[in-house]
Amino acid sequence: MADIKDEKARWQKQVYEKAKAKGGERHPSFVTSSGLEQKPVYTPDDVPGEYTEQLGFPGEYPFTRGVQPTMYRGRFWTMRQYAGFGSAEESNQRYHYLLQSGQTGLSVAFDLPTQMGRDADHSRARGEVGKVGVSISSLKDMEVLLKGLPLADVSTSMTINATAPILLSLYAAVGEQNGVALEQLSGTVQNDILKEYMARGTYIYPPEPSLRLITNMFAFCAKRIPKWNPISISGYHIREAGSTAAQEIGFTLADGIAYVEAALKAGLQVDEFAGRLSFFFNVHNNFLEEVAKFRAARRLWARIMKERFKAKDPRSMMLRFHAQTAGSTLTAQQVDNNVVRVALQALAAVMGGAQSLHTNSRDEALALPSEEAARLALRTQQVIAYESGVADIIDPMGGSYAVESMTDELEAKAQDYLRRIDDMGGMVRAIAQGYPQGEIQEAAYQAQRDLEQKRSVVVGVNQFQIKEPPPQGLLRVDETVERTQTERLKKLRAERDNAAATRTVDALRKAAATPDENLMPLILDAVKAYATLGEISDAMRDVFGEHQEHVVL
Ligand code: 3HC
Repeated sequence: MADIKDEKARWQKQVYEKAKAKGGERHPSFVTSSGLEQKPVYTPDDVPGEYTEQLGFPGEYPFTRGVQPTMYRGRFWTMRQYAGFGSAEESNQRYHYLLQSGQTGLSVAFDLPTQMGRDADHSRARGEVGKVGVSISSLKDMEVLLKGLPLADVSTSMTINATAPILLSLYAAVGEQNGVALEQLSGTVQNDILKEYMARGTYIYPPEPSLRLITNMFAFCAKRIPKWNPISISGYHIREAGSTAAQEIGFTLADGIAYVEAALKAGLQVDEFAGRLSFFFNVHNNFLEEVAKFRAARRLWARIMKERFKAKDPRSMMLRFHAQTAGSTLTAQQVDNNVVRVALQALAAVMGGAQSLHTNSRDEALALPSEEAARLALRTQQVIAYESGVADIIDPMGGSYAVESMTDELEAKAQDYLRRIDDMGGMVRAIAQGYPQGEIQEAAYQAQRDLEQKRSVVVGVNQFQIKEPPPQGLLRVDETVERTQTERLKKLRAERDNAAATRTVDALRKAAATPDENLMPLILDAVKAYATLGEISDAMRDVFGEHQEHVVL
């Protein structure tokens, strides 16, 4: 190694510096959004670590090179397009369309009232019903949403947090109605309330009861729905809020540590639930940094689970993740440029070893994806999978001096955040003190300054602009969904066995007041009695109250 160092010093001094002095460079320094200084060239001495310790082999600890021994040679990542809007009928149609177009997993987006535990006819739902996702207020809606879908064969992700216990129960109830036993169901609920307090905002209850519901689901799924991933610990929204790649890893894994600690405190054994923890990351623009980010996150999580939590089962150490291309990089200008951005971001997710992927649509900076735009987004994944060849070699970027060096640097930066958060008493306290929020805001501010001062370029936005007509063919969500949902709820309450609905909701309310009772079976009973999402959520509001921002825990 010594001669490479000497040779590099020679080249740097006699060749590179001379050329730089003569012709200059585009920037005084090259730094990524995470503050990673980008060297002009990387060489073996930038990757000092020992191979078997730092990289290892695919499917083996520390999983740097991938969680599966055969990775995409055995099975492509799941092509899982996030979709849902308007009524259950409209969303059901889109799901069938996407499956027919070749997607291999389902992913449900819910409207805000559903996410916030409000029925479609609640005064607080006005104007939001069916807007950013599908409106689900009862088992009746869920029956329509899932009509004709192969629940025994396809895995379904549901982007739902505060009301995740209810939506999982609704999904399970429809599965049972269609002869699919709970044990056969596979999928994921996001169920990551900490990032809601930190970055996204769709929380209902205070942290303690919210963590109780989450660990109730860990225990219930481990016993009753073993193929279900009861949480998708998310960095996506943390990054969308403006964090750096290093903060995305650090804060997401800090959330993961908090959930593991909560589950252990609730009496679960680490290998009983940790194998079903899943993650969800953003895929941003800096290709090499994003590939390094996923590899660093996988290795760091494996080390945390093995060394800090003494997990024995290798599955407890595997960071399995879904990735979504960065919504915040989509532009309303020159929307075709978004196809190129999404393709590069999707490629980074694949080179980084994602298990599941959503690719954004070209028109998504302006509206929910049109059918044609959603199909092109899916085709982007299919071209990478079937035509690019990158899925045929495991971890093809492994061994790149630049990527390995950035993997090491990002892991170290993320570990710094974890140490700081540990010193604050853990992530729940750090969030209550506003620590990650402040770090994210600072990073977002710097990024905005770079844009305004043209240190960073967004093609078509702050450089290479053109005059262009407004885009055509945007999806318009049916405005009548609020009225039809209100009518449906009135009909439901008239037709259902109200005594049964009331009885199950009262039983839930009573159990919620008993801290060590698992509420999942009671929530399942209530949804089967056609109690509504709002009635069930309110029963828990009566006991838990609602989280008030800025209340120091
Ligand atoms: N060899 C052998 N087996 C393999 C294999 C290989 N090469 N590759 C995969 N498999 C197996 C897996 O082991 C698994 O079997 P198992 O369940 O028995 O272990 C099966 O094949 C399916 O593979 P994966 O589990 O890897 O893939 P999935 O797609 O089923 O799961 C996941 C991926 C990340 C674990 C899961 O949690 C998931 O699907 N997450 C998706 C989350 C999501 O879509 N979120 C969207 C959020 S949208 C949002 O929030 C943004 C909005 O707010 C704007």
